[in-house]
Amino acid sequence: MLKAVILIGGPQKGTRFRPLSLDTPKPLFPIAGLPLIQHHIHACAKLKECKEILIIGAYTTNLMAQFISDMQKEYHVIIRYLQEFAPLGTGGGLYHFRDQIRAGNPMAFFLLNGDVCADFPLRELLTFHEERPTALVTIMGTEATRQQSVHYGCMVREPSTKAVNHYVEKPNSYVSTLINCGVYVCSLQVFHTMAESFQKKQDVYYSGNGQNGHPGYMSWEQDVLAPLAGTNKLYAMQVTNWWSQVKTAGSAIYANRHYLELHKEREKSAKPPSCNILPDVFLHPTASVDSTAVIGPNVSIGAGVSIKAGVRIKESIVLNNATINDHALVMYSVVGQDASVGEWARVEGTPSDPDPNKPFAKMDNTPLFNTDGRLNPSITILGSGVVVPAETILLNSIVLPHKHLTRSFKHEIIL
Ligand code: GTP
Repeated sequence: MLKAVILIGGPQKGTRFRPLSLDTPKPLFPIAGLPLIQHHIHACAKLKECKEILIIGAYTTNLMAQFISDMQKEYHVIIRYLQEFAPLGTGGGLYHFRDQIRAGNPMAFFLLNGDVCADFPLRELLTFHEERPTALVTIMGTEATRQQSVHYGCMVREPSTKAVNHYVEKPNSYVSTLINCGVYVCSLQVFHTMAESFQKKQDVYYSGNGQNGHPGYMSWEQDVLAPLAGTNKLYAMQVTNWWSQVKTAGSAIYANRHYLELHKEREKSAKPPSCNILPDVFLHPTASVDSTAVIGPNVSIGAGVSIKAGVRIKESIVLNNATINDHALVMYSVVGQDASVGEWARVEGTPSDPDPNKPFAKMDNTPLFNTDGRLNPSITILGSGVVVPAETILLNSIVLPHKHLTRSFKHEIIL
């Protein structure tokens, strides 16, 4: 029997995903028609030995309840949400809920960061782990550029065994271009290592009169992976498939494109749409689209969306119940729930894709503002309920929820 754990953080995390996370917690934001972490659940549920998926985070249970109930109905596996009493870090929650993970004595568990996107080669990862009897943790790794690698967990492996000899989380200077993807398979004995790290942290906490953060806080990367390196208990399997993180709003469009490509088969079996589609496109069955609209490539259209005559949409996500009126154009943008784009309006953003000329380049995940306090070029985002009047132009702008615009905007944040 196997289990899986998905770490989703809490409302304090995902700040770079604002304003998209104002309405929907980031782990539930729809990418290619599915909430972000449903892609993880889908991958775990495909393994028939996986009997339980535990989602650990600091969001309140009521925010997650509907999603968990929907997932229970859709997948034949136990899915539970475990709420941390405070954000305990990437290792603290895992350790706090160790008895829940160990219950039923699974032979191993997958650990997935909720904000990564991939086709999750879990079966291969498990086989790789099982082939190395001393392994407590096997990390899925990928190649990054030398320059970008320092923003991730960097690993140096023993070439023949693939054991990780050296692990540094976000190093100050170059260590290795092999980076940690935030996808792991772990043996239950890892909790012994975690107990030692936890004890050390308690000693520090109590020797400092409680001034060293929360006593239950633990970083999986720094307090568990780094000490395991060089002990023959930590391994890394390198993959070359697509992998990305969802950190900024712009990265949602990039992830959308790749998940659409992965889910092509699902779309083939859906009923053929009546409008002009340039693949890949996800169209929710309840969306109504005029036959003269042209949609795609790389567009996801949510439930109840209404798309009128002559509309053109590409590289965008349109959330539930939004309306795109006649002849409007939407490109590199996210249109929030219940938002409305007027006739002949133009809503356009700038893509923030990885540099196509650099092999292994990842997204830069630049923050909303640059050091001069100016908005960095990014996708355009319309918050929920925003109204864009007819014949206006919105370029590289972010509009907070429920704003009724009265004119055009360029490179602005509209509060
Ligand atoms: P940043 O670049 O700072 O975002 O770092 P990172 O990419 O290493 O991500 P981070 O370590 O913050 O988070 C990795 C994963 O763990 C994400 O899916 C987070 O949502 C999740 N996570 C982070 N902190 C916590 C926490 O306190 N509790 C739980 N349950 N999950 C967390």
